[in-house]
Amino acid sequence: MCGIVGYTGDAPAAKLLLDGLSRLEYRGYDSAGLCLLNQDFSTVKTVGKVRNLAEKVRDCQVDGLVGIAHTRWATHGAPLEKNAHPHLDDGGRVAVVHNGIIENYMALRSRLEKRGHKFISDTDSEVIPHLIAEFYDDDPVQAVAAALRQLTGTYGVCVLFRDLPGLMIAARSGSPVIVGLGQGSNMAASDVTALITHTRNVIYLNDGELAVITPEKVELRTLANVPIEREISRITWDPDTIGKGGYEHFMIKEIFEQPEALANTIRGRVLPDDGSAKLSGLNMTPREMAMINRIVIPGCGSSLHSGLIGEYYFEDIAGIPAEVEQAAEFRYRNPIIEPNTLVLPISQSGETADTLAAVREAIHKGAVVAAISNVVGSTIARECGRGVYLHAGPEISVASTKAFTCQVAALLLMSLLFGRSRRLSGEDGREIGAEIARLPELVQSVLDEFPTIERIAKKYAAFNDFFFIGRGCLYPVALEGALKLKEVSYVHAEGYHAAELKHGPMSLLGDRVPVIALANRIPGQEKLLGNIEECLARRSPVIAVVSGEDANVAKYTSDIIRVPASSRYAAPITTVVALQIFAYCFARERKCDIDQPRNLAKSVTVE
Ligand code: F6R
Repeated sequence: MCGIVGYTGDAPAAKLLLDGLSRLEYRGYDSAGLCLLNQDFSTVKTVGKVRNLAEKVRDCQVDGLVGIAHTRWATHGAPLEKNAHPHLDDGGRVAVVHNGIIENYMALRSRLEKRGHKFISDTDSEVIPHLIAEFYDDDPVQAVAAALRQLTGTYGVCVLFRDLPGLMIAARSGSPVIVGLGQGSNMAASDVTALITHTRNVIYLNDGELAVITPEKVELRTLANVPIEREISRITWDPDTIGKGGYEHFMIKEIFEQPEALANTIRGRVLPDDGSAKLSGLNMTPREMAMINRIVIPGCGSSLHSGLIGEYYFEDIAGIPAEVEQAAEFRYRNPIIEPNTLVLPISQSGETADTLAAVREAIHKGAVVAAISNVVGSTIARECGRGVYLHAGPEISVASTKAFTCQVAALLLMSLLFGRSRRLSGEDGREIGAEIARLPELVQSVLDEFPTIERIAKKYAAFNDFFFIGRGCLYPVALEGALKLKEVSYVHAEGYHAAELKHGPMSLLGDRVPVIALANRIPGQEKLLGNIEECLARRSPVIAVVSGEDANVAKYTSDIIRVPASSRYAAPITTVVALQIFAYCFARERKCDIDQPRNLAKSVTVE
């Protein structure tokens, strides 16, 4: 799970590669390296972030018109210089950067070692340049294809040959590779964010394809050497949106972008007169929607939590039984997919390996599969071929914020649409549609509470254990609030259904374990007030999130976060925004690396 970028052209490559790498750091940031080609390869590697690599490259004063670079999230071998990419064969003829996992690398390595190859790293990736060198005689494309055919697992690679200046070969299977088309220069990378300052014209590679790239042209082929024609796609979003825009961290920038991001998710999709929604990307007729009798939602992490909120929406609004699956389990538990089951994978990146595997299994089993994704052209979006894009803009912070709320909004839109094809009345539909249209404004009101939330986060900054409790559609929000806090501040935080506390976890409560109670006015609130009393009786300090001016909760605690009064459908979104701000302020107070928390990566493309 790493970021790769390569360049071949007429400009010094080092700066372009480092710039591209810095935009890929969300994919991993424990070590980095680059390799430039002049007469010979010059390779520079460091432990740590891309800025360390940039300093070292400056000190070494290396450059070239062709190069490949890598930012790593370790899977095989510790984050050490020897394990950082690019890797070369022992003859120094072939250089490779790789994103993915080679599952059969041990067998390949021992076979190569028997043939005299010397390895220096502990990685799975190092077998790739050795294999290519082994196959390389005078046809570099055939050598790469032959080597890749030996691999089991996943890869996105860029390859250079010492004796063939100007040539770069990129290929993919299971890990994204996008080719960027410039003027007199071309690039390849694992994400368009690494290409966008250079070009807006891109080609998405599919699994089993390779691109033969020179400064003048790009040719696509299958591994069996069959030429492929592919349309050029145009990136339309603004590269400025991937800067921090004056904010201290991407996370807080993205939290504050939520009114706009939600407006983009919703735009043109609510039909106020019909009390319905329009989601053209789903490509389903009302009749097809009415036939769906079960929805299965696979996802991971925050996307799993948004799916759990979707489950409430689909059942409550549309009357369709829905269930959420941890995507990693989906294909291993032989899921029951019937002809009228809709599988609805949720993935911000559209590249998460477990969710992708669930998509493939669902397609294999004949399900109708539609993706909820943020990244246009991502693998999951393309393989599903239908779905709902969030249009939330690029999410760079490792902790998901705006993508999460936009996923929930997309699920609400979908439930409205499916509801109207079934039991939901026009009047009820219009009410929900109006609530959806109000989401940006509701979220803005939560953002206006920043100073209060910041004060409370600072007050509790020395505590190391937190519980988050909620009921109904706020139960998944409790899970998400706890995930946000542990992710960015490294403190222990657990999300529970409020009724579960007394079944065991309550033994941990006490004056050093604050409880964040999601006490908004939604059905079940009265029971949650009882749960707050139970926590106070065990001396746990309580921080309460409440709706509007609700005075009920004030008698229990003075640490109150107010979110605007809303229906139960909007409450998960307003509440989670308050918890995102809490997690952010708490982590900032503890001086954590908020945008790139330790041990994590933004896009999890390994199983
Ligand atoms: C948490 C977070 C992760 C992701 C998870 C799935 O803040 O960002 O838990 O939600 O890795 O990623 P996607 O949605 O890209 O499939």
